[in-house]
Amino acid sequence: MIVLITGGLGFLGSHICVELMDKGYQVIVADNLSNSNIDVLDKINLINGKKPIFYNVDVCKAKDLEQIFTVHKIEGVIHLAGYKAVLESVVNPLKYYNNNITGTLNLLELCKEYGVNRFVFSSSATVYGDQVSPLHENMEVKRGTNPYGETKIMIERILEDYSHSNKEFGVIVLRYFNPIGAHESGLIGEDPKGIPNNLMPYLTRVANGEYPYLNIYGDDYNTIDGTGVRDYVHVVDIAKGHMVAMEKMKNGYDVFNLGTGRGTSVLQLVETFKGVNNVEIPFKIVDRRPGDIAVAYANVDKASTLLSWKAQRTLEDMVRDSWNFQLRNNVNNLL
Ligand code: WQD
Repeated sequence: MIVLITGGLGFLGSHICVELMDKGYQVIVADNLSNSNIDVLDKINLINGKKPIFYNVDVCKAKDLEQIFTVHKIEGVIHLAGYKAVLESVVNPLKYYNNNITGTLNLLELCKEYGVNRFVFSSSATVYGDQVSPLHENMEVKRGTNPYGETKIMIERILEDYSHSNKEFGVIVLRYFNPIGAHESGLIGEDPKGIPNNLMPYLTRVANGEYPYLNIYGDDYNTIDGTGVRDYVHVVDIAKGHMVAMEKMKNGYDVFNLGTGRGTSVLQLVETFKGVNNVEIPFKIVDRRPGDIAVAYANVDKASTLLSWKAQRTLEDMVRDSWNFQLRNNVNNLL
């Protein structure tokens, strides 16, 4: 099967490339390198012994994107390309609406024109807003979190409406919880440009000495130790989730959570990281981050029942692999 992965050189995309290519899929990547690095192609080659076909294309440029559909007989699309920094989306909402919505509409127009009827979309647990965990796919989505979250809700809606109009079209929306970890080789992982917004890439840079300490955003939540609780899930498990979604997809629209079903607090994650990797993580408790919620973890029964997908990797695997990637990445940066 020939699959186009937009945003395919990013953190999730690169791991999905590896899993799909390993199973014999032919993978085409469209990525404009806005938050990823071209070196990832060589890393995938080191892992798999082959590279995906790469296009430096912005999904917002319909004509450029169409080139890919004219050259390759695309059979499925995994759509990850999009901006994802929550705070930036509040400061610059138009950038987020413009980019994330336009890119998706362009892709769908091309899918319609070229008869591509298999589509997987990268959504987020953020669409649930502040509801009581475990979060279930049947719960309503909650508007009003932030423009980034709104784009995810809008795109889910666009995909559902399009699937109603085209009975041949199959789409699976995957709502990720908090992907961390890295490929066990340490060759690919999360390497955001600039100061990381998310916990794990910040934490590994503290472990590394790049930042003096971790800011922990609040210890007065109603949780086990007062710090925020999230459902951390290994990126390789998430990547495998995309493969089974592609394989088991039926016509019509469906939504699945990808998480472990377990909640971990910030302090528990820091303690696990220190214990497994034998490194110090200095931290300071600071004010809550605006917009954060106390607890979010998944109900994962639906993916288990209908996709036979379950996260296999433990929190220990996640912190070990995240740190291994950071260490190898340091070496690469010195070369
Ligand atoms: C996790 C926990 C923080 C950084 C967001 C988006 C979501 C998804 C992932 C993706 C929280 C705490 C964090 C730090 C901290 N989007 N924290 N110090 O907020 O659950 O989810 O990113 O691409 O849609 O909403 O993830 O990793 O930012 O935070 O204490 O420096 O760590 O308060 O409890 P979050 P996160």
